[in-house]
Amino acid sequence: PVHPTAARPLPITVQSENVAYSDEHIVSKFFNRGSEAVFANGMYSVKPVSKPFEFQTTRKVSKTGLMMVGLGGNNGTTLCATILANRHGISWHTKNGIQQPNYIGSVLRASTVSIGTNPATGKEVYVPISSILPMVHPNDLVLGGWDISGLPMDKAMERAKVLDWDLQRQVAPHMAEIGKPLPSIYYPDFIAANQEARADNVIPGSDKQAHLEHLRADIRAFKQKHALDRVVVFWTANTERYSDIIPGVNDTADNLLAAIKASHSEVSPSTLFAVASILEGEPFVNGAPQNTFVPGVIELAERHQSFIGGDDLKSGQTKLKSVFAEFLVNAGIKPLSIASYNHLGNNDGHNLSAEPQFKSKEISKSSVVDDMVNANRLLYKPPAEGAKGKAAKGEHPDHIVVIKYVPAVGDSKRAIDEYYSEILMGGRSTINIFNECEDSLLATPLILDLSILAELLTRVKYRDLSNGAQTEFKPLYPILSLLSYMLKAPLVKPGTDVVNSLSRQRNALEAFLKACIGLEGNGDLLLETRIW
Ligand code: NAI
Repeated sequence: PVHPTAARPLPITVQSENVAYSDEHIVSKFFNRGSEAVFANGMYSVKPVSKPFEFQTTRKVSKTGLMMVGLGGNNGTTLCATILANRHGISWHTKNGIQQPNYIGSVLRASTVSIGTNPATGKEVYVPISSILPMVHPNDLVLGGWDISGLPMDKAMERAKVLDWDLQRQVAPHMAEIGKPLPSIYYPDFIAANQEARADNVIPGSDKQAHLEHLRADIRAFKQKHALDRVVVFWTANTERYSDIIPGVNDTADNLLAAIKASHSEVSPSTLFAVASILEGEPFVNGAPQNTFVPGVIELAERHQSFIGGDDLKSGQTKLKSVFAEFLVNAGIKPLSIASYNHLGNNDGHNLSAEPQFKSKEISKSSVVDDMVNANRLLYKPPAEGAKGKAAKGEHPDHIVVIKYVPAVGDSKRAIDEYYSEILMGGRSTINIFNECEDSLLATPLILDLSILAELLTRVKYRDLSNGAQTEFKPLYPILSLLSYMLKAPLVKPGTDVVNSLSRQRNALEAFLKACIGLEGNGDLLLETRIW
């Protein structure tokens, strides 16, 4: 039997004058309802607004390849083995009995949304999110990618020590078919020195322009070999140190392209992969915390209307924090400090034991409560007018993050968080959370969700009907902030606010997918249950 999370979803048809189905497209009319609020003369003045849009979704799902950078790592091998076990229906023995493959932990495959109420029973009807619009099934993804370690995939899975042996044993021949990862670019300065021993599969030379062209050729060749419509390139390689942002080097698209030509030392491997993907017109997602998306990359993505998303997978501690901090602040309780400790023993932890790489992770983990604090200036004083630097954030809870490498615990990361809060009349509350995050098993479904959503969003176009004029459909803005739910430090359109709250991120995704089929997003009012 196929596990329900791996089953093919049933289609949905919406009967509405706002939705039209053709063989090729679903076109929906959508009113973006909101309000404009201003504060003047000692009062708030609010005006409801409603702007009409149209969304056009191509129904035919692209034949999609997923090329991972860091294919031979814990995430890369776990993802490949998971897909292959699902695809080939491999079940295995554990000490608890027979285990079936599944996609638990994937929002798209294993969580549901309400599409309405059944009038006969009055009960809400829930469907998998993947039923809302046509999406790639993970079993159909064509797998490939790069690694600086040339260990073949069956052996790399063994090295990762993530999956049960009886599963590894059965899936190994399929993993061996993927073979050896493509050679990658290795600039030792960007990852920890302790990774050097792995780097036996590197593209020779130090000419960054030649490296860029090599990566572009790899993407094209993979696409051609497997007759793909689309390739998603996904960075799940080691965390790099931050790149310095240097005027004239990586601050604009043209400067960045020139810096690559000049093999400038501040252009990181991940930035080169991002540039290669953008120039090939294929989506690129950054699953690690470093600042791959220097301003020049963002400008290049805008210029080529090519999709990018990031940064850093939100799998364990930060995911919990983006729920827990919101719960406290929205309950009117004031966190005074959040102290987070982690220890882990996998290769990611080994790499993060070096200071510059830890710094990248620290930054990405740190901003997660900012939006909740900003939304509640009853509890936290706003910044003084004209405040600069740290003071520009206004009052803020103390927030620290510590990460230690403890080889013995392997992939099973332990995270301890203390939330120390002010409660009524000067009282204090302390909540401690101990969280064991099976790292790669939590991260793998996020890579799937991000890749599947990235492909979907390349098929959604929109037009603004505000002026009544029939303008052309155009693609979404290149920074895919709709991917935020799965990301620790979501990249958003410059000048717009980051939303870290997990529930708001999920609501946004649900509302967007539903808008594409002409349904209202949030039905939580449930008015019929409140009235006579
Ligand atoms: P890993 O260390 O097992 O795998 C990373 C792989 O990348 C290694 O095989 C390494 O040889 C390869 N690599 C390094 N530099 C490369 C380059 N320039 N080109 C190609 N390959 C390169 O790490 P893991 O656990 O798979 O994590 C991968 C990334 O995802 C890390 O940056 C980690 O911080 C990030 N991440 C992981 C999460 C998790 O829960 N597992 C959560 C959030 C982020």
